[in-house]
Amino acid sequence: MLNLAVLISGRGSNLQALQKNIESGILQGKAQIAVVLANKATAAGLTFAREHGLQTMVCPAEKDVLAGLAKQQIDLICLAGYMRLLSADFVNQYKGKLINIHPTLLPKYPGLHVHEKVLAAGEKESGCTVHYVDTGADTGQIIAQRKVPVLPDDTPETLAARVLEQEHVLYSQVILQIANAVSVL
Ligand code: GRF
Repeated sequence: MLNLAVLISGRGSNLQALQKNIESGILQGKAQIAVVLANKATAAGLTFAREHGLQTMVCPAEKDVLAGLAKQQIDLICLAGYMRLLSADFVNQYKGKLINIHPTLLPKYPGLHVHEKVLAAGEKESGCTVHYVDTGADTGQIIAQRKVPVLPDDTPETLAARVLEQEHVLYSQVILQIANAVSVL
């Protein structure tokens, strides 16, 4: 059973998808969310976490995150819409146990405002990526991706929604893959 820490900054739809798959989907018996950490108390995902009986912590600074994580036995840290950059020290401390989900087909379009950039570039497809976190911005080793078409009448919002649906599938698939790999070690 993988013990997860999920780090969020906002609405937490990826957190919700993970928890749904833990309660009644592909992650049942494979993973559990030990703690949800948010950098601000207003992160909407915290409400969902509390309603689902998950332990939550508000950690405005990285030292608070480190202190929060140190209290738990955590196997994997999942960044899910976490909008803070983590220091090299943090990343190195949790190397190989720290993953992120990003709403493009990395290495294309790291950073912010990605759907606007995908549309402006006239891409025919986009998607999402789960990757290990290294000291760069969205540059770590890619674990898996799912693709979606870009449609002629797409807006950043419609494209974001299509990608998000696949994020909700992909993140759990990757965590299952890691859980299965760990259980045979
Ligand atoms: C997702 O699109 C994720 O890929 C990106 O931030 C967004 C977070 O959405 N890193 P949510 O908070 O999980 O709904």
